[in-house]
Amino acid sequence: VFEREYTGPVFGDGVPLVDAEGERIREDRLKNGEQITVFPELRPGIERAPTLLVRFPESDYGGDTEMAFTAGGYAAYSKICTHAGCMVANRKGDTWECPCHYGKFDPKSGASVVGGPAPRSLPQLPITVSSDGYLVATGDFEAPVGAGGG
Ligand code: FES
Repeated sequence: VFEREYTGPVFGDGVPLVDAEGERIREDRLKNGEQITVFPELRPGIERAPTLLVRFPESDYGGDTEMAFTAGGYAAYSKICTHAGCMVANRKGDTWECPCHYGKFDPKSGASVVGGPAPRSLPQLPITVSSDGYLVATGDFEAPVGAGGG
């Protein structure tokens, strides 16, 4: 169920994730351990919902990860820090770090907070692989995106 009105294309089973060039994300786009910033087209102005898409072996996930929201080893989380809204951009090993006040998040455990001042995890975006082999969102983020709202 999409919380916001979406009028763009729907490919069978979901709303496409696209990269910064607007290209859809094929299921083989990332290798294990890689990540990319994507934009789910379910929001007016995709730039308002930058999303970190990461891929690990499925067995690497645990903790707070909502496994029903993952697909093919992919998990997707809001890139907007829940502390003060900076873009979570840095990757230190298997931890994401926010450059503003060094909030740290664990993408293998639901992007839960593992350091710094952020008050809550990065909201997870439910995704799946469409019947034609692309990553799509099946709904909106599980929690409010960005600072506050926690
Ligand atoms: Fe990310 Fe402060 S805005 S830690």
